[in-house]
Amino acid sequence: MRDRDEGYVTELPYTLGYYPELDPRRVRETLASAGVEIAPIRRACELGFGRGLSLAIHAVAGDAEWWGNDLLPRHVEEVKTLTRGLTDRLHISAETFAEFCTREDLPEFDFIALHGVWSWISERNRQIITAFIDRKLANGGVLYLSYNTRKAWESVLPLRKFLVTEAAKPELASSALADRIEAALVAAQHVVARDLPPARDDPAFEKHLRKIRHQAKAYLAHEYFNRDWALFDEADLSATFGPLGLAYVAQANGAAGSTGFRRDLWVRGQASRDGSTQSLEWTPRVVNRAAVHELNARLLRLATDEPYLSTLASPDTGGGVELGWRSLLALGAWQEGARDAVSIAERVASTLRRLGHPLVHEGVMIKDAAEVAAMLRREAESFIAAKMDPLRRVD
Ligand SMILES: C[S@@+](CC[C@H](N)C(=O)[O-])C[C@H]1O[C@@H](n2cnc3c(N)ncnc32)[C@H](O)[C@@H]1O
Repeated sequence: MRDRDEGYVTELPYTLGYYPELDPRRVRETLASAGVEIAPIRRACELGFGRGLSLAIHAVAGDAEWWGNDLLPRHVEEVKTLTRGLTDRLHISAETFAEFCTREDLPEFDFIALHGVWSWISERNRQIITAFIDRKLANGGVLYLSYNTRKAWESVLPLRKFLVTEAAKPELASSALADRIEAALVAAQHVVARDLPPARDDPAFEKHLRKIRHQAKAYLAHEYFNRDWALFDEADLSATFGPLGLAYVAQANGAAGSTGFRRDLWVRGQASRDGSTQSLEWTPRVVNRAAVHELNARLLRLATDEPYLSTLASPDTGGGVELGWRSLLALGAWQEGARDAVSIAERVASTLRRLGHPLVHEGVMIKDAAEVAAMLRREAESFIAAKMDPLRRVD
């Protein structure tokens, strides 16, 4: 029987990130500025949502009804816990793409999104998803798809291959994935230090190794250690989606030109240049502000264990507001009753200590304890002086 994961790493959960490019209102605005009018997005689907922060925020604070799927039960449980009792417009499942994409009970979607998925899955799964898009993306619907470009990442192939081979060595078979990754990185440093192949004659090997050496193992696992790691260029994507009647419109983050990680927006069919094929009438739903408030309270509690968390939900925009992790900690302290700069700073400091997390200010790590305390105090003071403005923006 075929493995459920098809070579995808399942041992470590992914990092927790919010991606504004997946916000349906923002998608619509981005397309409109590229000259393409689409109807408001009512039914949306996110495949491979990972820790699902974007999905949770958009389903609770936004107007669309969402369906989401991810292979890892831990990912799915986390989103369920985060959104429990807050919305009836979120349908999530821990299925494989093969299972989810062939279901008969799904509606047509106005928006299908895959962030950080396409380059990391098997060719068979890409075909399954392509067939799903063909079957389920409405005329005038939007596909969001991000991927690693061949041009930017080709030079990383030798390092990636080296790391995967090292991590798969039999003597590491009983080690945890994070330890296998560490061992592979140490081995790569070793060949660089001794000027051995494949580092020798390949400056990209060392350059990229330096860049990733201290990145979180959860990120490295999902970026480099899957069986599949496929790079694409625009022509590949056109060959796949052109025959389905999709046309490329814009980069979802508004970036011009190509970067190493493309975030494509494709629109299907005639949708278009004047919106004439669409019914633009639609009344956005009235947002449940109490539910958004409760989601944010849960996120503030989660932030005390998650240095990657830096976003709360906005009931006004229906999307996320990026505030920064320490602001979230300060807000959490405020919500728990701390009202002056000293006690807010002390609570933030105690979370940093408990997690062993360094204080990084404008890219510089502050090591001196007194300096750390003074900086957190200053941050808390300006937070109070701003009259908890970040909280008001999301409350
Ligand atoms: C690199 S992660 C990206 C997660 C998320 N979209 C993000 O950017 O934070 C890829 C995700 O695809 C999911 N995935 C991989 N293979 C899958 C499969 N065959 N069926 C369903 N989900 C899968 C993984 O569990 C993982 O959460």
